[in-house]
Amino acid sequence: HMPSVIEKLLCDFARSLTIINPEQMIEKAKGETAYLPCKFTVSDEDQGPLDIEWLLSPADNQKPDQVIILYSGDKIYVDYYQDLKGRVHFTSNDITSGDASINVTNLQLSDIGIYQCKVKKAPGVANKKVQLTVLVKPSGIRCFIDGSEEIGNDFKLKCEPKEGSLPLRYEWQKLSDSQKMPDSWLPEMTSPVISVKNATSEYSGTYSCTVRNRVGSDQCLLRLDVVPPSNRAGTIAGAIIGTLLALVLIGCIVFCCHKKRREEKYEKEVHHDIREDVPPPKSRTSTARSYIGSNHSSLGSMSPSNMEGYSKTLYNQVPSEDFERAPQSPTLPPAKVAAPNLSRMGAVPVMIPAQSKDGSIV
Ligand SMILES: *[C@@H]1O[C@H](CO)[C@@H](O)[C@H](O)[C@H]1NC(C)=O
Ligand SMILES: *[C@@H]1O[C@H](CO)[C@@H](O)[C@H](O)[C@H]1NC(C)=O
Repeated sequence: HMPSVIEKLLCDFARSLTIINPEQMIEKAKGETAYLPCKFTVSDEDQGPLDIEWLLSPADNQKPDQVIILYSGDKIYVDYYQDLKGRVHFTSNDITSGDASINVTNLQLSDIGIYQCKVKKAPGVANKKVQLTVLVKPSGIRCFIDGSEEIGNDFKLKCEPKEGSLPLRYEWQKLSDSQKMPDSWLPEMTSPVISVKNATSEYSGTYSCTVRNRVGSDQCLLRLDVVPPSNRAGTIAGAIIGTLLALVLIGCIVFCCHKKRREEKYEKEVHHDIREDVPPPKSRTSTARSYIGSNHSSLGSMSPSNMEGYSKTLYNQVPSEDFERAPQSPTLPPAKVAAPNLSRMGAVPVMIPAQSKDGSIV
């Protein structure tokens, strides 16, 4: 009677607990939530307690199967597997009604693997597998021109995503003007690189490159300006020459203004000096006063070599009464002043430096 017993058992299996799972493969983007369905029906004969177990066989074959969530004795147990900590949940509030589906949130590449739903309600048992694939959306995509975009030149238009799971699909489009891609580019419209040969100015315009994979897409824009080589050189040379001309012009203006101011001051100085020098000093005080005036006005335009120390020291003393006592001043350089004059003429030694200063300018 052995065969009939086996037959009876097979029959029982067929009638008992069953998992209805249409999907066997699920593909999601990194960071998204994966819904792993596991809906089941029980037969009247399945009278035992309901036990549900989800197992993960990681894609990495070295890792053993892992329990990731458990339902037993009306309780839910999680956090068996550290990599999925806090990211696995039953989706149904009433598991006993026949829904053992789970969600895995914030998907990571390490979540890739085969997930197995095991339902047990004695004597019924059933299990079903679903494969989860986590893909990375294309992102950080960069469009650029490799080469020199000049008429008659060969160069490349490139489109490079920073990341994105394979297989990636590329699509170039022209966004400006007629939106018509050059005919010679059409064979490469779906490749990451377009090789441009013998460029013409009609190629100029704005292009987009879109990169797609099964979970997402990203796009970059590229502005192409095909110009004559001479134009480019001309533009650069023009910019340089223009800048230089501007600098020279500014230099001229500054120089001329400065020179003019100097000349004006110089004329003033000469004027003063003539007025001072030609008529002999009538009184000490008037001479000193006029000297103070000329000294003040001339200092600004005097070069350091002209000042040579004496006028600086004098200026430091102006306009104090030291002026009257200038002959006794220890800071006055003695070289240019005759000692007898100092004692004899009082204010005159002050005049002597002024004269010698004028002499060095003229
Ligand atoms: C499970 O994830 C799906 C998206 O994959 C979402 O629509 C659903 O609301 C989630 N369910 C729960 C209970 O979080
Ligand atoms: C490049 O294109 C111009 C016209 O656009 C043509 O006259 C020339 O022969 C081409 N040169 C090459 C090397 O194909």
